[in-house]
Amino acid sequence: MRPSEKKRPDLPPDNFRLLSLGNGGDVDFSEVIDGLRQTPKSIAPKFLYDARGSELFNSICTTDAYYPTRTECGIYRQQAPTIAAEIGADSVVIEFGPGDMSKIRLLLDDLRPLTYVGVDVSVAQLEEAGPPLADAYPWLEVVAVCGDFGPSALLEEHLPRGRKRVAFFPGSTIGNLDPLEAEEFLQGLRQMLGAEGAAVIGVDMQKPLAVLETAYNDPEGYTCAFNLNLLTRLNRELGANFDERRFRHKAFYNEQLGRIEMHLVSVVQQQVRIGEQEFDFQPGETIHTESSWKFTRSGFAELAGKAGFEVQRFFTDENTWFGVFVLRVK
Ligand code: AVJ
Repeated sequence: MRPSEKKRPDLPPDNFRLLSLGNGGDVDFSEVIDGLRQTPKSIAPKFLYDARGSELFNSICTTDAYYPTRTECGIYRQQAPTIAAEIGADSVVIEFGPGDMSKIRLLLDDLRPLTYVGVDVSVAQLEEAGPPLADAYPWLEVVAVCGDFGPSALLEEHLPRGRKRVAFFPGSTIGNLDPLEAEEFLQGLRQMLGAEGAAVIGVDMQKPLAVLETAYNDPEGYTCAFNLNLLTRLNRELGANFDERRFRHKAFYNEQLGRIEMHLVSVVQQQVRIGEQEFDFQPGETIHTESSWKFTRSGFAELAGKAGFEVQRFFTDENTWFGVFVLRVK
């Protein structure tokens, strides 16, 4: 290659595009206020992921205690050819909340889709992760879509037609949704995928309580920092006056419901201001910041069934700690 033909490294690769749905980016903080007005108090988990929160989440994923990431990646490494054989080549892969886009890389060489669409609310994430993915896989069309998570009419306009669609939803992100929300999400996915569609969904499985509770109380303290960072964010972005030292991280497994619950516990009686509004906390009162549902193989199959999918294949690790479901539209 002559020097004049050399690509400037600061230009995005030709096989990369960044689009916007025009509905993402901004976080609707009125939702935060509404949640804090309720009893019990709650804030949706999506608010945990500002720049610092995303960084802390990535750190969580590297700990020994947090088994899901390495277990799921192990399954993809081992099963990529089999997963690819079930799905077939030349598809459009659509991933929601792709983060650093590292998980799809484990499948791409075998899966050989024509197009990869990553949908995320964070432009920063997409700009950081998208171009390197396009560089590493020059045969792949990489489309980064900034917007609200999940299938929608707006997203539909940006999806290529006439090709098999494959939804990729790893990381047990689906576990953040309550059962009814999860069913609705899967129904939307089914619509988006059409009759020929398939989905690859990673879900965290039910397992002994001690393993689960350690994963959400890592000795390094990343999960604690991740949870408390929500208050720091509200102070910065909403002008709130939370004192992080007056709240503590609490995560436990609710065996009855089959979910990890993450809370911020007020250690004293206190009043917190957000702008003009005041919120009272009793000692021990909590803000519920995240639920992380854990599944059984039959429970998830039933949920998928209600949304019009059937389980084509189920992959797991030697302990059945994490499950990867390949679903096809019924
Ligand atoms: C990204 C939602 C799958 O629930 O395990 C990790 C987030 N929260 N540690 C999870 C999380 C605390 C994670 N998900």
